Amino acid sequence: MLAVGTAVTLFVVVMGAVGIMRGRHRDEASIERDVPWGERFVLIAGLGVTGVILAAFFLVSVRAMASLDKQGRSTALTIDITGHDWWWEARYPNGAVTANEIHVPAGQRVSLRLRSDDVIHSLWVPQLAPKIDLIPGRLNHLWLEADKPGQYRGQCAEYCGLQHAHMIFFVVADPPGAFDRWMRAMAVPAVDPSDPLAQEGRALFLGQSCAGCHAIRGTDATGELGPDLTHFATRRTLAAGTLAVSPETLTEWILDPQSIKPGVTMPPADLAPDQVRAIVAYLLSLGFGSTP
Ligand code: CUA
Repeated sequence: MLAVGTAVTLFVVVMGAVGIMRGRHRDEASIERDVPWGERFVLIAGLGVTGVILAAFFLVSVRAMASLDKQGRSTALTIDITGHDWWWEARYPNGAVTANEIHVPAGQRVSLRLRSDDVIHSLWVPQLAPKIDLIPGRLNHLWLEADKPGQYRGQCAEYCGLQHAHMIFFVVADPPGAFDRWMRAMAVPAVDPSDPLAQEGRALFLGQSCAGCHAIRGTDATGELGPDLTHFATRRTLAAGTLAVSPETLTEWILDPQSIKPGVTMPPADLAPDQVRAIVAYLLSLGFGSTP
């Protein structure tokens, strides 16, 4: 494309220079006499040749795109990603579910199956892959590969409402062995806490409205409206990259999510301070337990 484009540009520049040198202070009749093939030339070079070049470019690009896409079909791992207002859900083939943190094995090609739960979102990890839309009622595919272990920031790239800017996620590329351990541990149900405060928090979580929207595998909480919290304490961020996870931020979030992320689906909790403390203790106990 660069070679053809350069040739075309040179040709146009040369023709322009010739035109300038011939001058323009001539009348219509003398132009007709000097260049009787003028109109035909404009038609052939301007329409015919340009059309052929553009059509050829189009066909070559379509073939290149198809072969790029095909490479993704030979991946060992497929992750299902769902866009929600305003967070990302990631489901792994072994039953592991998480949110806003997509772990992948470094140095391996991974394919993503993308859908949307509500409006059009767009998954974009600039360092790893092109943007791709998540469209309601449609399944899209993308493959990506992180060459080196590390954390790659991603962002929703299609305006999807009030908190579009707070629809952040991270692709975390682990060394393959560590990734396998992560995926296995993530699929294991939550372990009941031994700490009395966390136990109290567990009872509150299941008794209050929390369990209506959030799932914690291994308990009676099976809500599907919000992120799966089974191994919540292993995540780095809260509310799709809005806050770092800590007892303080989690307390603020539970008490008043609307002031942190206005418009978010989660309602404020009507809880006493020591109830919130118990729920926070429970959520922060949801690590990988003794099965890393
Ligand atoms: Cu989702 Cu913007």
